Amino acid sequence: MKELILQKLPAECPWRDTLYWYSSIHSTNTQAKELARQGAPHGTVLIAQEQTKGRGRLGRSFHSPEGLGIYLSVILRPNCKADKLMHLTCAAAVAMCNAVEQLCGIRPGVKWINDLVLEGKKLGGILTELSIDPKTGLAEYAIIGIGINCLHKKEDFPEPLQSIATSLFMAGLDTEPELLAAAMITALVQMDRSLLTNQAAIMAQYRRDCITIGKDIAVHRADTVKPGKALDVDRDGALIVAFSDGTVGAVNSGEVSVRGLYNYI
Ligand code: BTN
Repeated sequence: MKELILQKLPAECPWRDTLYWYSSIHSTNTQAKELARQGAPHGTVLIAQEQTKGRGRLGRSFHSPEGLGIYLSVILRPNCKADKLMHLTCAAAVAMCNAVEQLCGIRPGVKWINDLVLEGKKLGGILTELSIDPKTGLAEYAIIGIGINCLHKKEDFPEPLQSIATSLFMAGLDTEPELLAAAMITALVQMDRSLLTNQAAIMAQYRRDCITIGKDIAVHRADTVKPGKALDVDRDGALIVAFSDGTVGAVNSGEVSVRGLYNYI
């Protein structure tokens, strides 16, 4: 598979020589952290055919069966203060929408902050992890991990996911996983080029892609659930919410359910 991905990547792709491929691994994000600690360079890409402990946001797992999805992580060393990277997950989400659109002709949406959504169901997700030097506040490295469901049929998902998850195949988009992997890497290279210089344009595109904006939502944090309406996303990726109690606030963390999506009524 590695050879096929390399064949599909443009010859000038700067990350071709730092591509690792695993037939099975616990988690490409966990492995990427290990490689980053050992000094792996900017643009190191890890792709697995299967993950046995795929991880999602908020400590969740990410279902990663063999050969059906693309499970990919990239190590970035952006050489800037960590607070300049608040929009990284949003930038990666826009890059993945670009990749799927370029390959399949359909642009997914994004459920704030990191879910790729197609036809109202979860197509994939993004898990961004940052290591910061506590003395300087500089980013030591960032890992962007992305899982996109490609060839799954409904029955390939475990029961609880069957009503909320989808794949490119289920949406009638027949594509080769290697082509998808190459499109994802190419879109990430492009994202990396403009990450620090083009935040306003990236976030403008994120707002267009974000299906949460304008919807009735519920914010789940610790043991509380606060209903409200999503108004906007700010330049750092925080969700601006008009809560039903009359307050307006910026949400940076926690789970946000969107009415009408993923069985939330
Ligand atoms: C989410 O849905 O909350 C994020 C899912 C991120 C999954 C990807 S698959 C490749 C990388 N390795 C992991 O363990 N997680 C990410």
